[in-house]
Amino acid sequence: MPLHLNRLTISHFRSHLHVSLEPDARPVVLFGPNGAGKTNLIEAVSLFSPGRGMRRASAQDMTRRPESLGWKVSGLVETPEGLQDIAFQSEQGTPRQVRINDKPTPQTRLGELVRLLWLLPSMDRLWIEGAEGRRRFLDRMTLSFFPNHGEASLTYEKAMRERNRLLKDQVRDPAWYKALEAQMARTGALIHSNRMDALERIADAQQQASTSFPAAQLDLIQTEGEMPVGEADLRTALEESRFRDIASGRTLVGPHRADLYGVFATKGVPAADSSTGEQKALLISLVLSNARALVDDFGAAPIVLLDEVAAHLDATRRAALYDEISALGAQAWMTGTGPELFTELGSRAQYFEVTETDKGTAVTKRGGL
Ligand SMILES: Nc1ncnc2c1ncn2[C@@H]1O[C@H](COP(=O)(O)OP(=O)(O)O)[C@@H](O)[C@H]1O
Ligand SMILES: [Mg+2]
Repeated sequence: MPLHLNRLTISHFRSHLHVSLEPDARPVVLFGPNGAGKTNLIEAVSLFSPGRGMRRASAQDMTRRPESLGWKVSGLVETPEGLQDIAFQSEQGTPRQVRINDKPTPQTRLGELVRLLWLLPSMDRLWIEGAEGRRRFLDRMTLSFFPNHGEASLTYEKAMRERNRLLKDQVRDPAWYKALEAQMARTGALIHSNRMDALERIADAQQQASTSFPAAQLDLIQTEGEMPVGEADLRTALEESRFRDIASGRTLVGPHRADLYGVFATKGVPAADSSTGEQKALLISLVLSNARALVDDFGAAPIVLLDEVAAHLDATRRAALYDEISALGAQAWMTGTGPELFTELGSRAQYFEVTETDKGTAVTKRGGL
């Protein structure tokens, strides 16, 4: 049974007052004019994975304006562990609460149950912009394999923030640093090994796949200097870096300084130097490979969110993408301005039209496209 939502209910979330849809396991197409609320809908789906969702927005930003009452997103999700009733709620801008089958539940559990990947228009410049976006992309892929990755990252970042505060205050007493650095070393080593394992699985999946999308060769690199990776090495490196770090007011060594280097494999050209279309194709290829690897690893394809992905592909590439998604058996949520972008999918998907009305947005099931 593929992982999928079979009900999604949204209240007071972004532009949506109240929306409910009941999809089956097939890919979901959302079409409608600009501003109708398609991206907001898939943002709600992105909450079913640990973190702040695909726009990294605060609970406050997600609340429907101007009322600002708080919001609720809930869904019935078919998972390899059975049907789960999952709900997210934020009251008046407070951080969202997660409930699974009506019990407050930590995010790590959510990460075990639901695997979710996304590709957004804002990621079109991923290969040419700063390392942070690529790191986030890598960590999203890594989290899909290792549900503990999210918690390790949070713990690491919290310890680093505290260490950075000491650095800024020019604290020199080693005693203040020790516990924080030990924590950073422990979680940092896990972050690194998770990332490396994820890259290996994706590389294997790329090698085994017959796909019309180009393979990307990926490497983890350090933005500058060396990359201590084991727990003990990382602890030593942090200790040795203290004076340098005090001078710059931040931590200069560790996995938060890593970058993902991508090469268009068959051409040997760095992703950053590839054409805009090639860069997008590489990202699609990676998401598909990641999804294929999860079928073996997790037992089901992940839920995939593809925002406005069809618009940038020619008809042949589009047909290839739809074939590969159908073969995966993934519930891929795809948006586009009109149904004509999805003709090649035919009855392999289900269609919902998103329109704006006086009473908020309406989402209407459309058949026979
Ligand atoms: N918190 C919010 N409250 C009310 N409206 C919002 C909120 N956040 C975004 N919007 C509105 O949602 C509308 C639809 O956005 P979006 O889902 O991106 O549309 P599209 O269908 O083009 O993907 C936008 O016009 C935006 O102004
Ligand atoms: Mg949109």
